[in-house]
Amino acid sequence: MASSLFRLKPVEDVAGHSELKRTMGRSALLFFSVGSIIGSGIFVILGVAIPKAGPAVLLSFLLAAFVALLSALSYAELASAIPASGSSYSYTYVTLGEIVAWVVGWMLMLEYGVSVAAVAVGWGQYLNSFLGAFGVGIPEALAGPPGDGGVFNVPALIIVLACAFLLIRGASESARVNTVMVILKVGILVFFSVVAFTAFDGSNFAPFLPLGLLGVTAAAGQVFFSYIGFDAASTAGEEAKNPRRDLPFAIIGSLVVVTALYLLVTVAALGAQNWQTYGDSSSEAILATIADTATGGRWAGVLIALGAMISIFSVVLVTLYGQTRILFAMGRDGLLPKVFTRVSPRSQTPVANTVIVAIAIAIPASLVSLGQLAEATSIGTLGAFAVVNIGVIVLRRKHPEIPRGFRTPLFPVLPVLGIILIVVIVSGLDPVTWLVFAAWMAVGLVIYFAYSRRHSVLGRGGGAT
Ligand code: ALA
Repeated sequence: MASSLFRLKPVEDVAGHSELKRTMGRSALLFFSVGSIIGSGIFVILGVAIPKAGPAVLLSFLLAAFVALLSALSYAELASAIPASGSSYSYTYVTLGEIVAWVVGWMLMLEYGVSVAAVAVGWGQYLNSFLGAFGVGIPEALAGPPGDGGVFNVPALIIVLACAFLLIRGASESARVNTVMVILKVGILVFFSVVAFTAFDGSNFAPFLPLGLLGVTAAAGQVFFSYIGFDAASTAGEEAKNPRRDLPFAIIGSLVVVTALYLLVTVAALGAQNWQTYGDSSSEAILATIADTATGGRWAGVLIALGAMISIFSVVLVTLYGQTRILFAMGRDGLLPKVFTRVSPRSQTPVANTVIVAIAIAIPASLVSLGQLAEATSIGTLGAFAVVNIGVIVLRRKHPEIPRGFRTPLFPVLPVLGIILIVVIVSGLDPVTWLVFAAWMAVGLVIYFAYSRRHSVLGRGGGAT
């Protein structure tokens, strides 16, 4: 029994051959990752995290970036050794065995599925801010979830369904559209920073650490959300022209670019508005509000709201797409029902898969607050990252012979440090998040033993992905 739980998929089954067209070069992969990272995190969560740490939220961003970087190094090594499309789920199937791969796949549903819900909620907040400039307001009951001033979040529901509709029609992002989106996102954040710097007041940074180091780690748990997505390139392993060289570049490069940008935006925001005046409600389009105050009018805020809506829209689309891909891979391996792998002959997209995912995501998107959704996303993602760090250590021992385009430096110190810091960050998350996570994992294990174990393609003697 124990050995069948940990059955390994042979490395050669997931690496090397691809039925997909290898079209993505170095910069396309970098843009793909940056495009998946910048979304509701910096546009909305920033405002929720600032009251937790004060100006020291800058340290929270650095801490979260460092934790993300350690895992990014591990992702880079695994992606360069096993360039499959299923990201950490595929790596784990090879290194740690089926049940751990299942657990990772189940956690990825938090990283991808729940984060779509979270990002969608952020989109609604900027929609509200944008419409507000034209005197149109969505009734409060229909603009937010219960407990956050509303009853049902209609904008979040609409954006999830709209993206699902586009995906069903076959609109996955082309490289060119994605490049335009990324330039727009970066441009809007730089524009915000310039506007906010016109109202800069250095005294806003004193005292720097009003809530202590515990405040810094608590806020780091929240802002970690804003870095999620750097691993997106690892879901495109089979579409990369030169995965061994270019995946590590895209994974690490995107993180470096985004960290610099986030620090700029955070310094600008803190300088323009004293940290004590940020509410802890998550229902604010914070960057637009700061720009309004800085300019004394609405033009800059409206521009930022519009840019944010387009930016966040693209993250919803890409992340929803990623979730359907992961479920597709798990279905192909027999761990989930075949309905997830059924491709419509007309649109050549997994229609049933997309509809199921959209409905499952629309429910929390309409009923749960952004703060809670973001924390659930972070805990699932950090769990998956911990396993990736372990996976690097295991693969070096078991398969030292596989060529690697990238090797994690200071091995095994950095992957081990990565795991320790993940524990530090998750310990700062809300107890409710922990309860939700425990319940989620329990449900996952029940499904594994009731269904997946018995339907596993590998268990039935098949090995191909
Ligand atoms: N990193 C993504 C965002 O900020 C999830 O929206």
